[in-house]
Amino acid sequence: MPEEKRYLVGRRDDGGEGLLFLGRYLALDGSLGAGVYLDVLKPHAILICGKRGYGKSYTMGVLIEELARLPFKVRKNFCAIVVDTMGTFTRMDKPSMECLKEWGLEPEAIPIRKFAPRSHIHSGDVMPLEIPTGSLSFYDYCELLGIEPLGEGGAELLNAMGESFEVEELAGAVEASSPIHGMLRMVASWGLFSGKASFDGLLEPGSINIIDLSGYGHEPEVKSCIVASLARALYDARVEARRREEGGREVPLVWLFIDEAHMFMDSGADLRAGRVLTNEWLRQGRQPGLSLVLATQRPSALGKDVLSQADLIVCHRLTLRDDVEALESARPAYVKEPVPDAISRLGKERGAAIVIDDATESYHVIKVRPRMSEHGGGEPPVYID
Ligand SMILES: Nc1ncnc2c1ncn2[C@@H]1O[C@H](COP(=O)(O)OP(=O)(O)OP(=O)(O)O)[C@@H](O)[C@H]1O
Ligand SMILES: [Mg+2]
Repeated sequence: MPEEKRYLVGRRDDGGEGLLFLGRYLALDGSLGAGVYLDVLKPHAILICGKRGYGKSYTMGVLIEELARLPFKVRKNFCAIVVDTMGTFTRMDKPSMECLKEWGLEPEAIPIRKFAPRSHIHSGDVMPLEIPTGSLSFYDYCELLGIEPLGEGGAELLNAMGESFEVEELAGAVEASSPIHGMLRMVASWGLFSGKASFDGLLEPGSINIIDLSGYGHEPEVKSCIVASLARALYDARVEARRREEGGREVPLVWLFIDEAHMFMDSGADLRAGRVLTNEWLRQGRQPGLSLVLATQRPSALGKDVLSQADLIVCHRLTLRDDVEALESARPAYVKEPVPDAISRLGKERGAAIVIDDATESYHVIKVRPRMSEHGGGEPPVYID
């Protein structure tokens, strides 16, 4: 039987190992063509964008499934860490109920490890996420507490930090009458930060780790603090390991997935997490072997850096003019067609996307493959009895 034609993105050669099956070519008449595969042997910065409900989280889930399905000899080089702000990915340990026959796929549960802050754990299979206080900076604390670093509160906090970075001890070191005292007490009561904690548990070779932050729905500062300290610690761990590694792997290469990335990287909000992700991960992540996958409804909010640093853009249906224009203004020379024209070719099909790939300097219209594990991001049904 002749071998099926396939296209690779993210890599120029046609090598056989380390490929993630993303989907198939989508023709104008809706028919499906050759398979499209993404390279995993090189670090990548991937932006998935699109309007609400057109497949961003679903596509992110496909990439996570594919990483989990790599043979262990390849997978052991990596670990995936998924920042899950809506609890969308925590159901991947169940097989999908969708019919996958047309694609020749079988439902499959994905072995994931679930983490959540201790106060948000509601089932026995979730492990506690603890943030090492050693990975927090003075500025992280300021953002967390909502105080100005150069203001009165900042000075008070800085004085207290002469002794320790432990939340409880900091609370003890500031005046009991100070508003910061009350806030530090509240932060300590969450049990989220600890001097003894470390992120090492996440760095298990070949593991898929879902960090469920859905319990902090209304607290962007807390989520930013967690992601900033996590992203910085992972960056440091890989930079350090890269120096020592010779012929083997001490710390797995990290694939960090962030859904709803505008929550952390809104250029107008200037959050600490956004700074780490842009400066360390996007600009300098290639050498330490860090891959970043971001998904957002609002690519225009992420700022020019994200669009220009991404080496692969997966764009689902997009209609807001600001967002389409942001993509159009970042359009590489090899994309001959204006972005609005390319997007209009997608129609309203969920899961259809344009893939713009720097490595092969090409772009393709694809249909992302269906999920094999359960997707937790669908709309809830309305029950009418
Ligand atoms: N590749 C696909 N194949 C089949 N169905 C899909 C595909 N992609 C998305 N869908 C369908 O579209 C629905 C919405 O997708 P998804 O949850 O990824 O939206 P989203 O873009 O993340 O939206 P939001 O911005 O609201 O988070 C899914 O529940 C699924 O039913
Ligand atoms: Mg989503």
